[in-house]
Amino acid sequence: MLKPKVESALNNQLLIEAESSQIYLAMASWAETQGLGGTAQFLYKHSDEERIHMLKLVQYINERGGKAIIPALSKPTKEYKSLNSMFETLLNHEIMVSEKINDLVETCLKEKDYTTQNFLQWYVAEQIEEEALARTIMDKLKMIGADKSGLYMFDRDIETITIQSSVAPNQ
Ligand code: FEO
Repeated sequence: MLKPKVESALNNQLLIEAESSQIYLAMASWAETQGLGGTAQFLYKHSDEERIHMLKLVQYINERGGKAIIPALSKPTKEYKSLNSMFETLLNHEIMVSEKINDLVETCLKEKDYTTQNFLQWYVAEQIEEEALARTIMDKLKMIGADKSGLYMFDRDIETITIQSSVAPNQ
């Protein structure tokens, strides 16, 4: 049985994951309207992944005798100044999500819920990868700057920017 504090913290994380999915969906749609088809596909996929993050929490909470709360979602931003500023928003969002996961792990440790703490390790690992990927994308965009052909290639190749290639250079 989940302790009330853990259940409430898990439901809060469920909301964050659902909002992440919604935000990335809005980003995908924006990119599509800008003619950035590759970036749009990348973000549609990313949005689906966040939905899976949410779903895992729904099922875990219910399995452990709690009640998952399916939340209302805020309307995400629909316009971005540039591709750069959109990915900067994405990176900052992922950094925020990592902090929330860490807070959640801390709540579990305080409440001595080691089962949930163990369940959350998947999210801890996932966040390391997502932040690394977002940083790699930002680095590439900074390198490209205002170069239109660079941007064209970025959009064509974004699907090949994998977590492996983002982690490799620094480790
Ligand atoms: Fe599920 Fe990217 O946080």
